[in-house]
Amino acid sequence: MPAKGVSTLARTPDVLVVGGGIIGLGVAWRTAQRGLAVTVLDPAPGGGAAQVAAGMLAPVTELQYGEEPLLRLGMASNERYAAFAAELTAATGLDTGYRQTGTLAVALDSDDRAELRELLAFHQRLGLESHWLTGRECRRLEPMLAPGVRGGLQVTGDHQVDGRRLSKALLAACAREGVVLHRAEAAELVVTDGRATGVRLADGTELTAGQLVLAAGCRSHLLPGLPPGVLPAVRPVKGQVLRLRIPAPYAPFLSRNVRAVVRGQHIYLVPRADGELVIGATSEELGYDTTVTAGGVYELLRDAHELIPGITELPLVETGAGLRPGSPDNAPLLGPTTLPGLTAATGHYRNGVLLTPVTADLIADHLATGAVPELAAPFSPSRFTAEVTS
Ligand code: GLY
Repeated sequence: MPAKGVSTLARTPDVLVVGGGIIGLGVAWRTAQRGLAVTVLDPAPGGGAAQVAAGMLAPVTELQYGEEPLLRLGMASNERYAAFAAELTAATGLDTGYRQTGTLAVALDSDDRAELRELLAFHQRLGLESHWLTGRECRRLEPMLAPGVRGGLQVTGDHQVDGRRLSKALLAACAREGVVLHRAEAAELVVTDGRATGVRLADGTELTAGQLVLAAGCRSHLLPGLPPGVLPAVRPVKGQVLRLRIPAPYAPFLSRNVRAVVRGQHIYLVPRADGELVIGATSEELGYDTTVTAGGVYELLRDAHELIPGITELPLVETGAGLRPGSPDNAPLLGPTTLPGLTAATGHYRNGVLLTPVTADLIADHLATGAVPELAAPFSPSRFTAEVTS
Protein backbone atom coordinates (compact mmCIF):
# COMPACT_ATOMS: atom_id res chain seq x y z
CA MET A 1 0.00 0.00 0.00
CA PRO A 2 1.44 3.45 -0.86
CA ALA A 3 2.44 5.70 2.04
CA LYS A 4 -0.34 8.05 3.19
CA GLY A 5 -0.37 11.31 1.28
CA VAL A 6 1.42 9.86 -1.77
CA SER A 7 -0.59 10.24 -4.98
CA THR A 8 0.20 7.44 -7.39
CA LEU A 9 -1.79 5.34 -9.83
CA ALA A 10 0.69 2.45 -9.58
CA ARG A 11 -1.83 0.25 -7.77
CA THR A 12 -5.32 -0.65 -8.96
CA PRO A 13 -7.55 1.05 -6.41
CA ASP A 14 -10.09 -0.86 -4.40
CA VAL A 15 -12.56 1.96 -5.06
CA LEU A 16 -12.83 4.51 -7.87
CA VAL A 17 -15.13 7.46 -7.08
CA VAL A 18 -16.41 9.23 -10.19
CA GLY A 19 -17.08 12.82 -9.12
CA GLY A 20 -15.07 14.93 -6.69
CA GLY A 21 -17.71 17.25 -5.23
CA ILE A 22 -18.31 17.14 -1.49
CA ILE A 23 -20.27 13.88 -1.73
CA GLY A 24 -17.53 12.11 -3.70
CA LEU A 25 -14.78 13.50 -1.49
CA GLY A 26 -16.65 12.63 1.71
CA VAL A 27 -17.14 9.06 0.49
CA ALA A 28 -13.48 8.84 -0.56
CA TRP A 29 -12.25 10.13 2.80
CA ARG A 30 -14.35 7.82 4.91
CA THR A 31 -13.61 4.85 2.64
CA ALA A 32 -9.85 5.45 2.79
CA GLN A 33 -10.17 5.59 6.59
CA ARG A 34 -11.58 2.05 6.39
CA GLY A 35 -8.24 0.92 4.86
CA LEU A 36 -9.30 0.77 1.20
CA ALA A 37 -7.21 2.31 -1.59
CA VAL A 38 -9.31 5.04 -3.18
CA THR A 39 -9.02 7.15 -6.34
CA VAL A 40 -11.29 10.12 -7.13
CA LEU A 41 -11.79 10.95 -10.80
CA ASP A 42 -12.82 14.53 -11.56
CA PRO A 43 -11.44 17.22 -13.90
CA ALA A 44 -11.76 19.78 -11.05
CA PRO A 45 -11.96 18.04 -7.67
CA GLY A 46 -13.52 20.16 -4.95
CA GLY A 47 -15.95 21.85 -7.37
CA GLY A 48 -19.64 21.19 -7.89
CA ALA A 49 -22.85 22.55 -6.40
CA ALA A 50 -21.32 23.08 -2.92
CA GLN A 51 -19.34 25.99 -4.36
CA VAL A 52 -22.61 27.88 -4.81
CA ALA A 53 -24.76 26.47 -1.98
CA ALA A 54 -25.54 28.56 1.08
CA GLY A 55 -24.75 25.58 3.31
CA MET A 56 -27.89 25.57 5.45
CA LEU A 57 -28.22 22.38 7.45
CA ALA A 58 -31.99 22.44 7.55
CA PRO A 59 -33.65 19.04 7.94
CA VAL A 60 -36.51 20.62 9.91
CA THR A 61 -37.10 23.99 8.24
CA GLU A 62 -36.78 22.51 4.71
CA LEU A 63 -39.02 19.55 5.51
CA GLN A 64 -41.63 18.82 2.83
CA TYR A 65 -44.86 16.89 3.35
CA GLY A 66 -44.43 13.19 2.54
CA GLU A 67 -40.66 13.27 3.02
CA GLU A 68 -40.48 11.66 6.48
CA PRO A 69 -37.88 8.99 5.44
CA LEU A 70 -35.68 11.81 4.18
CA LEU A 71 -36.16 13.62 7.49
CA ARG A 72 -34.72 10.62 9.33
CA LEU A 73 -31.65 10.64 7.08
CA GLY A 74 -31.29 14.42 7.34
CA MET A 75 -31.56 14.35 11.14
CA ALA A 76 -28.97 11.57 11.29
CA SER A 77 -26.59 13.65 9.19
CA ASN A 78 -27.27 16.82 11.18
CA GLU A 79 -26.44 14.95 14.39
CA ARG A 80 -23.11 13.83 12.90
CA TYR A 81 -22.11 17.28 11.63
CA ALA A 82 -20.36 18.70 14.68
CA ALA A 83 -18.11 15.66 15.02
CA PHE A 84 -17.58 15.41 11.25
CA ALA A 85 -16.49 19.07 11.06
CA ALA A 86 -14.31 18.77 14.17
CA GLU A 87 -12.60 15.67 12.79
CA LEU A 88 -11.92 17.41 9.47
CA THR A 89 -10.45 20.40 11.26
CA ALA A 90 -8.32 18.22 13.53
CA ALA A 91 -7.01 16.30 10.49
CA THR A 92 -6.30 19.31 8.28
CA GLY A 93 -6.13 22.45 10.41
CA LEU A 94 -8.87 23.92 8.18
CA ASP A 95 -12.09 25.46 9.44
CA THR A 96 -15.27 24.25 7.70
CA GLY A 97 -17.41 27.21 8.77
CA TYR A 98 -19.71 24.89 10.74
CA ARG A 99 -21.77 27.09 13.11
CA GLN A 100 -24.55 26.14 15.47
CA THR A 101 -26.69 29.19 14.79
CA GLY A 102 -30.17 27.72 14.66
CA THR A 103 -32.75 29.03 12.19
CA LEU A 104 -35.64 31.45 12.31
CA ALA A 105 -38.32 31.02 9.62
CA VAL A 106 -40.59 34.05 9.36
CA ALA A 107 -43.77 35.08 7.55
CA LEU A 108 -44.49 38.41 5.86
CA ASP A 109 -48.25 38.39 5.25
CA SER A 110 -51.22 36.45 6.60
CA ASP A 111 -51.03 33.75 3.89
CA ASP A 112 -47.33 33.30 4.62
CA ARG A 113 -48.20 33.06 8.31
CA ALA A 114 -50.82 30.39 7.60
CA GLU A 115 -48.20 28.41 5.65
CA LEU A 116 -45.75 28.52 8.55
CA ARG A 117 -48.47 27.64 11.09
CA GLU A 118 -49.17 24.51 9.02
CA LEU A 119 -45.48 23.68 8.96
CA LEU A 120 -45.41 24.10 12.76
CA ALA A 121 -48.32 21.67 13.13
CA PHE A 122 -46.46 19.18 10.91
CA HIS A 123 -43.30 19.60 13.02
CA GLN A 124 -45.32 19.05 16.19
CA ARG A 125 -46.94 15.88 14.81
CA LEU A 126 -43.45 14.54 14.18
CA GLY A 127 -42.18 15.64 17.60
CA LEU A 128 -39.59 18.03 16.12
CA GLU A 129 -38.00 20.88 18.04
CA SER A 130 -39.83 23.91 16.62
CA HIS A 131 -41.85 26.65 18.27
CA TRP A 132 -43.88 29.69 17.35
CA LEU A 133 -42.76 33.28 17.99
CA THR A 134 -44.76 36.46 17.52
CA GLY A 135 -43.50 39.12 15.12
CA ARG A 136 -42.16 41.11 18.06
CA GLU A 137 -40.32 38.06 19.43
CA CYS A 138 -38.81 37.44 15.98
CA ARG A 139 -37.56 41.03 15.82
CA ARG A 140 -36.14 40.76 19.32
CA LEU A 141 -33.97 37.89 18.04
CA GLU A 142 -33.20 39.58 14.73
CA PRO A 143 -33.59 43.37 14.98
CA MET A 144 -32.93 43.90 11.24
CA LEU A 145 -36.23 42.19 10.32
CA ALA A 146 -38.91 44.41 8.82
CA PRO A 147 -41.61 45.67 11.22
CA GLY A 148 -44.23 43.86 9.09
CA VAL A 149 -42.98 40.36 9.98
CA ARG A 150 -46.08 38.47 11.18
CA GLY A 151 -44.44 35.78 13.27
CA GLY A 152 -42.28 32.78 12.72
CA LEU A 153 -40.82 29.47 13.74
CA GLN A 154 -37.71 29.12 15.82
CA VAL A 155 -35.83 25.90 15.05
CA THR A 156 -32.78 25.68 17.25
CA GLY A 157 -31.29 22.56 15.61
CA ASP A 158 -30.93 23.75 11.96
CA HIS A 159 -27.40 25.10 11.58
CA GLN A 160 -24.93 25.99 8.81
CA VAL A 161 -21.58 25.10 7.23
CA ASP A 162 -19.57 26.81 4.47
CA GLY A 163 -19.59 24.56 1.40
CA ARG A 164 -16.41 26.10 -0.03
CA ARG A 165 -14.45 25.65 3.19
CA LEU A 166 -15.88 22.16 3.56
CA SER A 167 -14.65 21.23 0.05
CA LYS A 168 -11.15 22.46 0.84
CA ALA A 169 -11.05 20.59 4.12
CA LEU A 170 -12.28 17.39 2.45
CA LEU A 171 -9.64 17.70 -0.29
CA ALA A 172 -6.92 18.09 2.34
CA ALA A 173 -8.30 15.23 4.45
CA CYS A 174 -8.42 12.96 1.39
CA ALA A 175 -4.77 13.78 0.63
CA ARG A 176 -3.81 12.88 4.20
CA GLU A 177 -5.55 9.51 3.86
CA GLY A 178 -3.69 8.74 0.62
CA VAL A 179 -6.68 9.22 -1.68
CA VAL A 180 -5.45 9.67 -5.27
CA LEU A 181 -6.97 12.58 -7.18
CA HIS A 182 -7.05 11.92 -10.92
CA ARG A 183 -7.89 15.13 -12.75
CA ALA A 184 -9.73 13.90 -15.82
CA GLU A 185 -13.26 13.24 -17.03
CA ALA A 186 -14.71 9.76 -17.30
CA ALA A 187 -15.53 9.21 -20.99
CA GLU A 188 -17.13 5.77 -20.57
CA LEU A 189 -18.01 3.20 -17.94
CA VAL A 190 -16.30 -0.12 -18.59
CA VAL A 191 -18.50 -3.17 -17.96
CA THR A 192 -16.84 -6.58 -18.11
CA ASP A 193 -18.91 -9.76 -17.93
CA GLY A 194 -21.86 -7.87 -16.44
CA ARG A 195 -19.81 -6.06 -13.80
CA ALA A 196 -18.58 -2.44 -13.63
CA THR A 197 -14.80 -2.74 -13.65
CA GLY A 198 -13.56 0.75 -14.43
CA VAL A 199 -13.82 3.80 -16.63
CA ARG A 200 -12.20 4.83 -19.89
CA LEU A 201 -10.87 8.38 -20.22
CA ALA A 202 -11.06 10.53 -23.36
CA ASP A 203 -7.44 9.64 -24.27
CA GLY A 204 -8.29 5.93 -24.16
CA THR A 205 -6.63 5.25 -20.79
CA GLU A 206 -8.58 2.73 -18.75
CA LEU A 207 -8.75 3.02 -14.96
CA THR A 208 -9.82 -0.18 -13.29
CA ALA A 209 -11.00 -0.64 -9.73
CA GLY A 210 -12.53 -3.28 -7.49
CA GLN A 211 -15.64 -1.15 -6.98
CA LEU A 212 -16.93 2.07 -8.51
CA VAL A 213 -18.94 4.86 -6.92
CA LEU A 214 -20.95 7.21 -9.10
CA ALA A 215 -21.07 10.60 -7.37
CA ALA A 216 -21.29 12.97 -10.32
CA GLY A 217 -24.33 14.99 -9.20
CA CYS A 218 -26.79 15.88 -11.94
CA ARG A 219 -24.49 14.35 -14.56
CA SER A 220 -24.38 10.92 -12.92
CA HIS A 221 -26.84 9.22 -15.30
CA LEU A 222 -25.11 10.69 -18.36
CA LEU A 223 -21.98 8.55 -18.03
CA PRO A 224 -21.69 6.77 -21.40
CA GLY A 225 -21.70 3.00 -21.08
CA LEU A 226 -24.10 2.98 -18.13
CA PRO A 227 -26.58 0.21 -18.99
CA PRO A 228 -30.21 1.38 -19.32
CA GLY A 229 -32.27 1.29 -16.14
CA VAL A 230 -29.31 1.15 -13.73
CA LEU A 231 -29.74 4.76 -12.62
CA PRO A 232 -32.76 7.02 -13.12
CA ALA A 233 -32.27 10.47 -14.63
CA VAL A 234 -30.88 12.95 -12.12
CA ARG A 235 -32.32 16.27 -13.26
CA PRO A 236 -30.53 19.59 -12.78
CA VAL A 237 -32.48 22.12 -10.69
CA LYS A 238 -30.86 25.51 -10.98
CA GLY A 239 -30.43 27.70 -7.92
CA GLN A 240 -29.25 31.29 -8.23
CA VAL A 241 -27.52 32.65 -5.13
CA LEU A 242 -26.16 36.05 -4.08
CA ARG A 243 -23.20 36.75 -1.83
CA LEU A 244 -23.07 40.02 0.10
CA ARG A 245 -20.54 41.28 2.60
CA ILE A 246 -21.39 42.61 6.03
CA PRO A 247 -18.97 45.49 6.75
CA ALA A 248 -17.70 45.52 10.36
CA PRO A 249 -19.88 48.46 11.52
CA TYR A 250 -23.04 46.52 10.51
CA ALA A 251 -22.04 43.28 12.25
CA PRO A 252 -23.58 41.01 13.28
CA PHE A 253 -26.49 42.11 11.00
CA LEU A 254 -28.05 38.64 11.44
CA SER A 255 -27.17 36.16 14.17
CA ARG A 256 -28.77 33.02 12.74
CA ASN A 257 -30.06 31.57 9.46
CA VAL A 258 -33.22 33.40 8.47
CA ARG A 259 -35.71 31.80 6.12
CA ALA A 260 -38.89 33.47 5.03
CA VAL A 261 -42.05 33.08 3.08
CA VAL A 262 -42.48 36.43 1.35
CA ARG A 263 -45.89 36.57 -0.36
CA GLY A 264 -45.62 32.88 -1.14
CA GLN A 265 -41.98 33.02 -2.30
CA HIS A 266 -39.33 31.22 -0.28
CA ILE A 267 -36.00 32.84 0.52
CA TYR A 268 -33.16 32.30 2.96
CA LEU A 269 -30.24 34.28 4.30
CA VAL A 270 -27.21 32.61 5.84
CA PRO A 271 -24.80 34.89 7.77
CA ARG A 272 -21.30 33.51 8.15
CA ALA A 273 -18.79 34.22 10.89
CA ASP A 274 -16.38 35.72 8.32
CA GLY A 275 -18.89 38.46 7.33
CA GLU A 276 -20.31 36.80 4.23
CA LEU A 277 -24.09 36.83 3.84
CA VAL A 278 -25.50 34.31 1.37
CA ILE A 279 -28.99 34.86 -0.05
CA GLY A 280 -30.75 32.07 -1.91
CA ALA A 281 -32.19 30.66 -3.91
CA THR A 282 -34.17 30.35 -7.08
CA SER A 283 -35.43 26.94 -8.14
CA GLU A 284 -35.57 26.54 -11.90
CA GLU A 285 -35.85 23.47 -14.10
CA LEU A 286 -34.04 24.67 -17.22
CA GLY A 287 -31.60 21.89 -17.97
CA TYR A 288 -27.86 22.40 -17.62
CA ASP A 289 -27.99 26.18 -17.64
CA THR A 290 -26.07 28.15 -15.02
CA THR A 291 -26.68 31.66 -16.35
CA VAL A 292 -27.26 34.26 -13.65
CA THR A 293 -30.26 36.26 -14.83
CA ALA A 294 -31.42 39.78 -14.05
CA GLY A 295 -34.80 38.31 -13.10
CA GLY A 296 -33.28 35.83 -10.64
CA VAL A 297 -31.16 38.50 -8.94
CA TYR A 298 -34.11 40.92 -8.92
CA GLU A 299 -36.48 38.43 -7.25
CA LEU A 300 -33.96 37.48 -4.56
CA LEU A 301 -33.13 41.12 -3.77
CA ARG A 302 -36.79 42.18 -3.90
CA ASP A 303 -37.84 39.54 -1.37
CA ALA A 304 -34.74 39.97 0.80
CA HIS A 305 -35.34 43.72 0.87
CA GLU A 306 -38.97 43.30 1.90
CA LEU A 307 -37.82 41.00 4.70
CA ILE A 308 -34.78 43.03 5.76
CA PRO A 309 -34.84 46.58 4.35
CA GLY A 310 -31.23 47.26 5.45
CA ILE A 311 -29.98 44.67 2.96
CA THR A 312 -29.64 47.28 0.23
CA GLU A 313 -26.81 48.98 2.18
CA LEU A 314 -24.56 45.93 1.91
CA PRO A 315 -21.99 45.38 -0.86
CA LEU A 316 -23.08 42.71 -3.34
CA VAL A 317 -19.87 40.81 -4.05
CA GLU A 318 -20.87 37.74 -6.05
CA THR A 319 -23.70 36.13 -7.93
CA GLY A 320 -23.74 32.50 -9.04
CA ALA A 321 -25.90 29.59 -10.05
CA GLY A 322 -25.53 25.91 -9.17
CA LEU A 323 -27.34 22.77 -10.24
CA ARG A 324 -29.03 20.65 -7.58
CA PRO A 325 -29.16 16.97 -8.56
CA GLY A 326 -32.82 15.91 -8.30
CA SER A 327 -33.89 12.27 -8.48
CA PRO A 328 -37.46 11.40 -9.61
CA ASP A 329 -38.69 11.46 -5.98
CA ASN A 330 -36.21 14.13 -4.82
CA ALA A 331 -34.60 11.70 -2.36
CA PRO A 332 -30.98 10.58 -2.79
CA LEU A 333 -29.76 7.46 -4.58
CA LEU A 334 -27.56 5.66 -2.07
CA GLY A 335 -26.02 2.21 -2.25
CA PRO A 336 -25.47 -0.62 -4.70
CA THR A 337 -27.11 -0.40 -8.11
CA THR A 338 -28.42 -3.35 -10.11
CA LEU A 339 -25.05 -3.36 -11.94
CA PRO A 340 -22.61 -5.37 -9.80
CA GLY A 341 -19.56 -3.31 -8.83
CA LEU A 342 -21.37 0.03 -9.15
CA THR A 343 -22.59 1.99 -6.12
CA ALA A 344 -24.47 5.28 -6.35
CA ALA A 345 -24.08 8.33 -4.12
CA THR A 346 -26.04 11.01 -5.94
CA GLY A 347 -29.45 12.68 -6.34
CA HIS A 348 -29.16 14.69 -3.12
CA TYR A 349 -31.27 17.53 -4.61
CA ARG A 350 -31.61 20.37 -2.01
CA ASN A 351 -29.73 18.45 0.68
CA GLY A 352 -26.24 17.69 -0.63
CA VAL A 353 -24.39 19.72 1.99
CA LEU A 354 -26.60 18.45 4.82
CA LEU A 355 -26.33 14.81 3.75
CA THR A 356 -22.55 14.71 3.16
CA PRO A 357 -21.55 13.18 6.55
CA VAL A 358 -24.21 10.47 6.57
CA THR A 359 -23.69 9.64 2.89
CA ALA A 360 -19.94 9.34 3.44
CA ASP A 361 -20.44 7.01 6.42
CA LEU A 362 -23.12 4.83 4.81
CA ILE A 363 -21.38 4.40 1.47
CA ALA A 364 -17.98 3.74 3.10
CA ASP A 365 -19.65 1.13 5.29
CA HIS A 366 -21.20 -0.55 2.27
CA LEU A 367 -17.92 -0.51 0.31
CA ALA A 368 -15.96 -1.95 3.24
CA THR A 369 -18.47 -4.63 4.29
CA GLY A 370 -20.70 -5.32 1.28
CA ALA A 371 -23.79 -4.81 3.48
CA VAL A 372 -26.39 -2.09 2.96
CA PRO A 373 -26.75 -0.06 6.17
CA GLU A 374 -30.34 0.09 7.44
CA LEU A 375 -30.43 3.89 7.19
CA ALA A 376 -29.55 3.70 3.47
CA ALA A 377 -32.06 0.98 2.55
CA PRO A 378 -35.03 3.33 1.74
CA PHE A 379 -32.79 5.18 -0.70
CA SER A 380 -31.74 2.21 -2.84
CA PRO A 381 -31.10 3.32 -6.44
CA SER A 382 -32.99 0.23 -7.59
CA ARG A 383 -36.31 1.52 -6.16
CA PHE A 384 -37.07 2.97 -9.60
CA THR A 385 -35.89 -0.13 -11.47
CA ALA A 386 -38.29 -2.24 -9.39
CA GLU A 387 -41.22 0.04 -10.28
CA VAL A 388 -40.53 -0.33 -13.99
CA THR A 389 -40.23 -4.12 -13.95
CA SER A 390 -43.08 -4.95 -11.55
N1 GLY B 1 -31.06 23.65 0.49
C1 GLY B 1 -31.18 24.92 -0.10
C2 GLY B 1 -31.44 24.92 -1.53
O1 GLY B 1 -31.39 23.90 -2.18
O2 GLY B 1 -31.69 25.99 -2.06
